[in-house]
Amino acid sequence: MDEKTIILTGATGSLGKLLLGELLASPHRVVLLIRAPSQYEAEMRAASLIRRHANAVQVIRGDLAKERLGLSETDYAGLLLRTTHILHAAASTRFDLSLETARRSNVGMTQRMLGLAEECVHLERFGFLSTAFVAGKRTGLIREDDFAHGEGFLNTYEQSKYEAEALMRVSASQLPMAIFRPSLIITPYEKRFRSSVSALTLGLFLIRKGFLPILPGDRKDSLDIVTAHDVAVAIVRLLLKPRLAHLCYHLTSGDKAPKIGEIADLLDEVAGKKLNLRLYGSEETFRRELKKVIRFRPGLGLFYKKISTFVLEMAHPKVFDRRNLLSELEGETFGEGSLEGLRALMKG
Ligand SMILES: NC(=O)c1ccc[n+]([C@@H]2O[C@H](COP(=O)([O-])OP(=O)(O)OC[C@H]3O[C@@H](n4cnc5c(N)ncnc54)[C@H](OP(=O)(O)O)[C@@H]3O)[C@@H](O)[C@H]2O)c1
Repeated sequence: MDEKTIILTGATGSLGKLLLGELLASPHRVVLLIRAPSQYEAEMRAASLIRRHANAVQVIRGDLAKERLGLSETDYAGLLLRTTHILHAAASTRFDLSLETARRSNVGMTQRMLGLAEECVHLERFGFLSTAFVAGKRTGLIREDDFAHGEGFLNTYEQSKYEAEALMRVSASQLPMAIFRPSLIITPYEKRFRSSVSALTLGLFLIRKGFLPILPGDRKDSLDIVTAHDVAVAIVRLLLKPRLAHLCYHLTSGDKAPKIGEIADLLDEVAGKKLNLRLYGSEETFRRELKKVIRFRPGLGLFYKKISTFVLEMAHPKVFDRRNLLSELEGETFGEGSLEGLRALMKG
């Protein structure tokens, strides 16, 4: 089909907003499935994200937690006829949900989007936002073609995304799939989205204020971070490519990822003083020390809980190979400015 129609889910999310920006810069038609109490409110939510190109966007009130995505029969049938691309970015990204709730959300939503994709008559690509952290507690080199493992997960988010990716893989022989696995995304801080402060932003804030004087990990290990802008540009580029050589792509900084020691130095630099951040290698030692910190500052217990799941990643260091990605980007680099992105986030 010459005219492309791209469904984007999760457009109101921190990465979704940037994916939407990239899609709007393409010449194609974009359909947003946005949850809201009414169609009018869905359009109002979208209006705050779209400043231009409104003609190329259709907003449909939809809830991926509901059967047929909460759409009317007419809307659903219309999508089956028109859709050429799907970019499924919606997810529950909280780390502290029960496994049942995280699964119901992340696996359930993916199942329903797959149901739609299977019936689309002109589907050219189904892009799925997974995460590099489906690798869970594995350490060392993680390849894009690696998937199944029995090492366990640091939180229910990782596990439910792993299970959702497994579903996608089952359908990969029948549908034109692409699985995108970003690592930890640095999103620019925006006052109007203050409610969605990420665990990373919160963690950096607590460290700089001296409320979190400890972390797991080792100075020489790396922490893979990438900017939301780099991730959004690359994903949309791959999504719209007529042919892809691989199923799965790491959107990661790989061997260019900053070392934990560099991040600790950057924190000192931004704070303008030595923070004396102490690193306690393993997860067990860190958890023990964290308990002492919480005993000392009980009021911060909830915040520590929110961030402890992501900081624990530092105790399971990985290097995310990204040769599939780099081969599709044909000589362009990716994710090399992640330390600069972090500096900008801390100073913002
Ligand atoms: N941020 C990261 O560091 C990171 C790293 C790797 C992978 N990822 C993946 O990238 C994707 C986007 O992440 P993000 O950080 O942008 O997430 P986010 O900020 O938490 O946004 C989640 C999005 O999903 C939507 N959503 C959730 N449940 C829905 C439902 N039942 N019906 C319709 N929409 C629903 C939310 O809509 P509402 O606005 O209505 O809540 C929101 O737009 C996710 O799949 C995530 O797993 C993120």
